[in-house]
Amino acid sequence: LTGASPIPARPLRVAEDGWSLEILDQTRLPHEVVVVRLTTLDDVVEAIAVMRVRGAPLLGITAAYGLALALRADPSDHGLRRAAKALVAARPTAVNLPRAVEVVSAAVADLPSDARAAAAYAAAGALAEEEVTACRAIGDHGLRLLLELAAGRPPGQPVRVLTHCNTGWLATLEYGTALAPVYRAAEENVPVHVWVDETRPRNQGWLTAWELHARGVPHTLIPDSAAAHLLQRGEVDVVLVGTDRTTRRGDVCNKIGTYPLALAARAARVPFYAAVPSSSVDWSRRSWRRIPIEERSPAEVRRVRGRLEDGMIADVHPGRPETEVRNPAFDVTPARLVTGLLTERGVCAASAAGLEGLFPERRR
Ligand code: MRU
Repeated sequence: LTGASPIPARPLRVAEDGWSLEILDQTRLPHEVVVVRLTTLDDVVEAIAVMRVRGAPLLGITAAYGLALALRADPSDHGLRRAAKALVAARPTAVNLPRAVEVVSAAVADLPSDARAAAAYAAAGALAEEEVTACRAIGDHGLRLLLELAAGRPPGQPVRVLTHCNTGWLATLEYGTALAPVYRAAEENVPVHVWVDETRPRNQGWLTAWELHARGVPHTLIPDSAAAHLLQRGEVDVVLVGTDRTTRRGDVCNKIGTYPLALAARAARVPFYAAVPSSSVDWSRRSWRRIPIEERSPAEVRRVRGRLEDGMIADVHPGRPETEVRNPAFDVTPARLVTGLLTERGVCAASAAGLEGLFPERRR
């Protein structure tokens, strides 16, 4: 591991100057640890769009601070609207992003312009700590699930978790969503082993492997195409994934490749849980068909980034760069394939009744 910076405790923080943001640049991981400073709205929008920060909860938190940063420069109504629009447009699928922008906008809307920036920082900070608390609670509920599975394993054998994308502290601030139960299990000395889907084309699985390695959690990286094989052969006890947007009926939108994983888990009768902080529930959405699915640049498929033998980091083309490519970044797993939703208030069925049972204030 090389890089200019030590590994920070969180992937985002307000810098010592009290206003600019420091982020761990995830486009440079796992090869280099580089912390970059964001000082303008444009910096934040760019960091979100190119995925220097990523993962649904972290997108929300970053956008919230982005709005605060923007209000320092222009606290007018026009400035607020312009910043909110730019942030929401930066990435379309994770509902955490528009939700965070809405929360911060509401907190400042009625304030005089000279009070807005400070109030926005306070609202962003509160939102960030809410996410940390939710992740920790998801970890505790998920730990109970892993303990039940551990009881069914031969003595000394680990619970075998399969996960997709990156749902750890890099994607949140602490613990993570689907990885929170794994980290809690590791803290409690419950043996776990994680199968890590590589998650082409952005290879977030390598971020997961990097995180797990740093915390000493046993893991094995697999190509996405190997997951169904392992499920079929009985080598997986549970699938744990995150979500970018879950409908009020429990349909789970997550990183592309999650849906085939759920189909394979169902065929193999392996439980499939989605870790869903309430900030990732789109309470306004009944039908998953209307979830905006991000289509990313074909360049992400046409080239692969890695480290060369001489230590240089480079992009290479696995094939003819002009090849026509399609790159949808998310898919939807219908609720019927989801064993349960792991929320900060406990585990529930993937259904409107299940979610409303835990979040009665959202009942219609
Ligand atoms: O495109 P990304 O890397 O932002 O996608 C991240 C995921 O799909 C995660 O699984 C999701 O955000 C939920 S958990 C943090």
